[in-house]
Amino acid sequence: MHPMLNIAIRAARSAGTLIARSCEQLDIVKSTEKSSNDFVTNIDREAEQLIAQTLRKSFPGHAVVGEELGQQGPADSDHQWIIDPLDGTSNFIRGIPHVSISIALKVQGKLEQAVIYDPLRDELFTASRGRGAQLNGRRIRVGNRPELTGALLATGFPFKQKQLLPVYSSLFNSLFPLVADMRRAGSAALDLAYVAAGRLDGFWEIGLKPWDIAAGELIVREAGGLVTDFAGGNNQLKSGNVVAASPKVLQAMLKTMRPHLTEELMR
Ligand code: IPD
Ligand code: CA
Ligand code: CA
Ligand code: CA
Repeated sequence: MHPMLNIAIRAARSAGTLIARSCEQLDIVKSTEKSSNDFVTNIDREAEQLIAQTLRKSFPGHAVVGEELGQQGPADSDHQWIIDPLDGTSNFIRGIPHVSISIALKVQGKLEQAVIYDPLRDELFTASRGRGAQLNGRRIRVGNRPELTGALLATGFPFKQKQLLPVYSSLFNSLFPLVADMRRAGSAALDLAYVAAGRLDGFWEIGLKPWDIAAGELIVREAGGLVTDFAGGNNQLKSGNVVAASPKVLQAMLKTMRPHLTEELMR
């Protein structure tokens, strides 16, 4: 295993221990509302601090950027770690046991290492570029469904941008009749990991952030899938509008969604 992946796993597991322990004592977790319906807790911040400390101690020359604490370390480093210390904060606060930790390493802008850890199921999804994707050390691959018929897709609702509801609904309405069913489980990182493992046939969401996507993008790709924006491109997924699936299901999803996209969502 790549030594940098090894450290990332150690960091994810230590944050996982904190999160799992905190799930048993939710009454003392302190949460605040960052913006409308968007929450953060002391555990989000403590988990990010733990991860950043582990990474910064091992790699003092690397930059670290996370959802809650922002940038640490030399900004001009060509090694950049991207961290979501707790993906699924709304689930966590309510005691819904579906959360994850997402850590990715970019070297000169290219994704090289990725970890998504589900501390409540002890499921560790990992990938190193060119070395495939694994779940608890075993190789995983995207599903082999040839079309949308029978597919199980996942999505995220645009709960922070309710003005997007009309366009979101028309995309949902275009896909839903064609597939078996749709899930909204509340951790984008796990949605991507489940696509990589073939548990889900595809995933789509509007307006994700780099820390939601980075690790999952590499894990899906190394599992034989594709991750693109709604136009089918992958310009670092700047828009945060993401579709992930096996190549066949992805093409079918994009084709179905296209007539319903606004110009803004195509960017
Ligand atoms: C959120 C989760 C959720 C997705 C949101 C994300 P957070 O991340 O991934 O599934 O729908 O868009 O912001 O805030 O819990 O880390
Ligand atoms: Ca958040
Ligand atoms: Ca997140
Ligand atoms: Ca988070």
